[in-house]
Amino acid sequence: MKAIHLYLLSGLASLTLLSFNQSNANNKDQQTKNSVDMKFEKVALPYATDALEPVISKQTVELHYGKHHQAYIDNLNKLIVGTKFENADLETIVKESDGAIFNNAGQSLNHNLYFTSFKKNGGGVPKGKLAEAINEQFGSFDQFKEEFNAAGVSLFGSGWVWLAKDQNGKLSILKESNAGNPLTSGLTPVLGFDVWEHSYYLDYQNRRADHLKELWSIIDWDVVSARY
Ligand SMILES: [Fe+2]
Repeated sequence: MKAIHLYLLSGLASLTLLSFNQSNANNKDQQTKNSVDMKFEKVALPYATDALEPVISKQTVELHYGKHHQAYIDNLNKLIVGTKFENADLETIVKESDGAIFNNAGQSLNHNLYFTSFKKNGGGVPKGKLAEAINEQFGSFDQFKEEFNAAGVSLFGSGWVWLAKDQNGKLSILKESNAGNPLTSGLTPVLGFDVWEHSYYLDYQNRRADHLKELWSIIDWDVVSARY
């Protein structure tokens, strides 16, 4: 009787242990899955979706940030599963990947930088060392803006115009197609204007030059100057 009792008890203990292990494994799987699913997220929008009006409409922010940017992030999170980039940070992926992973990583990073470069009632002029470097290298802030806008207008097709710095603080204006980012040239992005039509078509239709001119009045120079 005692033997049967012990046997039953040990069976129960094994079952409990099995079920504990299984539930632990399930939790682990769930956690791993969640951590992969949730790996990258869009940067939080630091203003209301209508805060940039009339320069960028609420509708454009909602579509551009809510749909386009979200799609790049979602695609990236799916594409990196099972690759060497599964646990890499975004900058590393942009520097070292190519093809679809690069396109979606680049656009994820580019839009994180873009959407945090603006604020309600922004504009004015750059600050601190960035202001000094712009004046020194371009002659004046107005001259810099003119060159930056010209680069953005003359970029053929979809892409980005960037202000970037090298390791010595030297500034340059870069035209990058599609998902391009200065990181791939060993440079640090300071300011990027999105010249994909999705960023301005609802508000400006084909008038890219007008859109670029207006963007200067919503720049958050505290954030952008701190990147220099
Ligand atoms: Fe965009």
